Amino acid sequence: MCGIFGYVGKRPKISSVILNGLKKLEYRGYDSWGISVKNKGILEVEKHTGKIENARIRLPGSNLGIGHTRWATHGKVTTANAHPHLDCTGKIALVHNGIIENFQELKRVLAGKGHIFQSETDTEVAVHLIEEYVKKDGFAISVRQAFQKLKGLNAIVACYAPSAEIVAAKNGSPLIVGVGRNEFFIASDATGIVDNTKKVVFLNDHQMAILGMTLKIIQLKNGKQIKPQVTLLDWKFEKAKKGKFKHFLLKEIHEQPKVIEHIAYNHSSYVKQLAKLVNVAFGTFMVGCGTASYAALAGTYLFSSVAKKHVNFTIGSEFNYLEDYLTPDSLIVAFSQSGETIDVIEPVSNAKRRGAKIAVVVNTLGSTLYRQADYKFLLGAGPEKAVVATKSFIAKIALLILTAHELSDKQSEGKKLLVGAAKNVVEILKKRYVEKIQALAKELKNVKHIYLIGRGLSYVSCLEAALKIKETSYTHAEGFAGGELKHGAIALIEKGTPCIVFAPNDETYEAIASNAQELKARGGFIVGIGPRDNSVFDRFFKTANLKHATMIPQIVIAQLLAYHLAISKGISDPDKPRNLAKSVTVR
Ligand code: F6R
Repeated sequence: MCGIFGYVGKRPKISSVILNGLKKLEYRGYDSWGISVKNKGILEVEKHTGKIENARIRLPGSNLGIGHTRWATHGKVTTANAHPHLDCTGKIALVHNGIIENFQELKRVLAGKGHIFQSETDTEVAVHLIEEYVKKDGFAISVRQAFQKLKGLNAIVACYAPSAEIVAAKNGSPLIVGVGRNEFFIASDATGIVDNTKKVVFLNDHQMAILGMTLKIIQLKNGKQIKPQVTLLDWKFEKAKKGKFKHFLLKEIHEQPKVIEHIAYNHSSYVKQLAKLVNVAFGTFMVGCGTASYAALAGTYLFSSVAKKHVNFTIGSEFNYLEDYLTPDSLIVAFSQSGETIDVIEPVSNAKRRGAKIAVVVNTLGSTLYRQADYKFLLGAGPEKAVVATKSFIAKIALLILTAHELSDKQSEGKKLLVGAAKNVVEILKKRYVEKIQALAKELKNVKHIYLIGRGLSYVSCLEAALKIKETSYTHAEGFAGGELKHGAIALIEKGTPCIVFAPNDETYEAIASNAQELKARGGFIVGIGPRDNSVFDRFFKTANLKHATMIPQIVIAQLLAYHLAISKGISDPDKPRNLAKSVTVR
């Protein structure tokens, strides 16, 4: 959430370097953006609302500057609220990622001292605080003093007109320094840097970095300088291009058969290791947020049903409040595409402090969670550019299906199911099948609400499908356990209300078909998804019969429906839905 990029070195026109860096980081937030460069001892600033896309920058040449792409937390999406923010003198510019939890208190004190605020953001207090300290001390010391006054999980990067240095500090939100030849970069993550250099220093919490002629890393608590640990990123950053597809979202949906096969054929040893960890743990806790949380929840059903193994599930943002019983024998399995979701990182760090073992299933090498983990499992789904998660979810489900089967000594059976799922998804992605989904999307384009029901693993499918529909097409969709509707939500069903029913050919089939009848009796328009048709369905989307892996084609159908619903509704950029960001780094 929010992308930071900074540069200091010898290049003469760095605003375009910063702009390119911000473009790479735009998935972290795309409400507004801005850059500040130092030119002839003065800080120049340019800020805009909206996405960066084809922006051209008007700033003058410079060899030091900072930039930011914003996901609004405090204050509306306006140019004034876009970063960088300046102090009252216009000599300090600052960009920020995180939330300054005590900003109101700090703002009151600073306003009392005569500081004038130009924005509604929490961020601006940080730059005025530095301004206070810089009256008496050097720039870097002032940044350190100011940062120590901020409560919450934050990263700041600042520059000062009389100084040839960029100063950064972090606690919680990520920051990485790129080390070039006579030049340094700083960014929220490596994707912003790797085009320029593969040598990086991962800044740890409670550290600050001073980037100038040299790089200094300093412990915030005692001000002691420590030797920078340079890591060579030998990872290949696959270039994500849309190719023949209009949107990354559609491209990534189409990549799923390959992703499933990749996991089926290459993840056998990962799966063995994960299964072993679960087997020896005294209490396993699956954690994730949003779509990743649904993968974690699916894990509980899969492990119970396939492996007769109990594991716990919690969403990341609630896990902090449920950690009292963790012991060194507990195992946390954290799921995250980005590896940067603060609602997962924070409780996982707490669990680690309690001695629990940390396994992470992530898609991003070198991410914060990846570095924090005792056991690392990479999905290998390739870069996921669309904000709406698709292939990373299917990858997690595939890995969990294999692991559940490994836990009951039947990995090859799990593999067969995955290979079958990959084949079925290929069929679903064919023109004729997609046309049927497009036709349904057209039928549903004016509806206000869609309800989805399923039981067991299909309950998880409908939660994930509802999220896809909501965030991609802005249509209200809600997933329910089939048995739960009659306890209240059925009151919402009226004539023509679309109800999607996930009906795999398993022990849930008869019961979910009865639930569908209950909906139909109240006027519901019933769409069935699964291997077996039923007279209750008004529309039916057939999948292969793949036991637990039936979930995979069911979800792919829902992803396509969400995408085509968005297109039918005239939503121009389904890759970047409003109000969202790919990487959620605030709590
Ligand atoms: C939904 C979506 C989000 C993410 C969630 C966690 O399509 O993408 O719900 O799943 O923000 O993100 P990661 O997996 O990066 O931790």
